[in-house]
Amino acid sequence: MQFEYCMPTRVICGADNIKKLDELMPNGPVFIVSDRIMVRIGVTEQMKEILAPRRVEIFAEVEPNPSFETADKAAAIAREIGAIGVIGIGGGSTMDVAKAAAMLVNNEGSIEDYINGGKALANDRAFLICIPTTAGTGSEVSNVGVFTDHKANTKKPWVSFKFLPDIALLDPVMTYSLPPRITSATGLDALCHAVESYWCLARNPIAQSYSIMAVKLVMENLMTAFNEPKNEEARTNMSTASLLGGLAMGQTRTTACHGISFGLTTNFGIDHGTACVLTLPSMIRRFSPAVEEEMNALVKTVGFESPEAFACRVEEIMDETGISRRLSDYGIKDSDLDMLAELGASALVTKNSPVQLSKRDVYDTLLAIL
Ligand SMILES: NC(=O)c1ccc[n+]([C@@H]2O[C@H](COP(=O)([O-])OP(=O)(O)OC[C@H]3O[C@@H](n4cnc5c(N)ncnc54)[C@H](O)[C@@H]3O)[C@@H](O)[C@H]2O)c1
Ligand SMILES: [Fe+2]
Repeated sequence: MQFEYCMPTRVICGADNIKKLDELMPNGPVFIVSDRIMVRIGVTEQMKEILAPRRVEIFAEVEPNPSFETADKAAAIAREIGAIGVIGIGGGSTMDVAKAAAMLVNNEGSIEDYINGGKALANDRAFLICIPTTAGTGSEVSNVGVFTDHKANTKKPWVSFKFLPDIALLDPVMTYSLPPRITSATGLDALCHAVESYWCLARNPIAQSYSIMAVKLVMENLMTAFNEPKNEEARTNMSTASLLGGLAMGQTRTTACHGISFGLTTNFGIDHGTACVLTLPSMIRRFSPAVEEEMNALVKTVGFESPEAFACRVEEIMDETGISRRLSDYGIKDSDLDMLAELGASALVTKNSPVQLSKRDVYDTLLAIL
């Protein structure tokens, strides 16, 4: 076995930690990439006050599954104010745009030059703090940003160790306002990161140890966070699960569930977490025999008799939280499966699965849940 481990991000976790921003951020102009909801509930204004007298510019135009254009727009404002620091406060979409802005403020050109053009990053990024307001992506500790390329009609990852933020500031209070449906979908995204990292070809003992705890925390806390949005313990545990899932996945990448999700999101607008978890139960059943000993150890540690019992519980959680398991409920038809199978089978992360899937395999998986 060969593996590397790189994790320079300082993690600070606890309720009301947002008040520490002044001591954590160097002096100079700060660019805040945020979410409409954070502006509406007054969090960005609060941050501005905490960061005073620094010049602070707020950008709150990030859409789910952000585009190249949004990343470029954010970068242009960051350059204009000469930002020395960037803060991303929001879900994965927002944190990813913050990462791109922090990078592009010190490097010329468009995000497209780097992702599609393969240009190398000449300079280091601005100081970067990520504050997640969903508990799902783990972007606050990952070395990747994911962006939608509308011309190619797909999502593309931008991977660089330079993306690992200086600080991941977890303040579970920021997730209290998450609606139940988003709590569930993003929490199940965290579950996918943990499980996919655990079984992937690039798996390693450090990432696997994070995955076990992440799976346990999701299975024990997601329903409470769904039913009691202001339950501090459940929210803190979900934020921690997301962090651990991100730490694991950031080292190893994901597998087929994420690979298949990209086509579901770009073509049918299915949110990221839902798109990923749709195939998780099928993949648990398909992949577990190939990593039998390790999967048995995982499911026993988190309280299940077998991978099958674990897969059934994931299906129950989807049912109990209103996430349909049927592709047809998202407007997908029989005639779409060929295209989805092609996109899913050819995605790079799909090849990181413990069993290699052909286009036919992906097609059959999708047909079974149509
Ligand atoms: N960089 C990474 O490591 C990584 C990992 C996984 C996924 N991703 C990417 O992250 C994106 C998905 O991120 P996400 O699942 O966090 O969703 P998101 O950031 O797209 O947010 C989903 C919705 O939740 C809302 N929201 C966020 N926080 C809220 C809060 N506290 N209260 C109320 N509403 C809130 C947002 O406004 C948005 O409408 C996708 O683009 C995905 O590809 C990145
Ligand atoms: Fe994900």
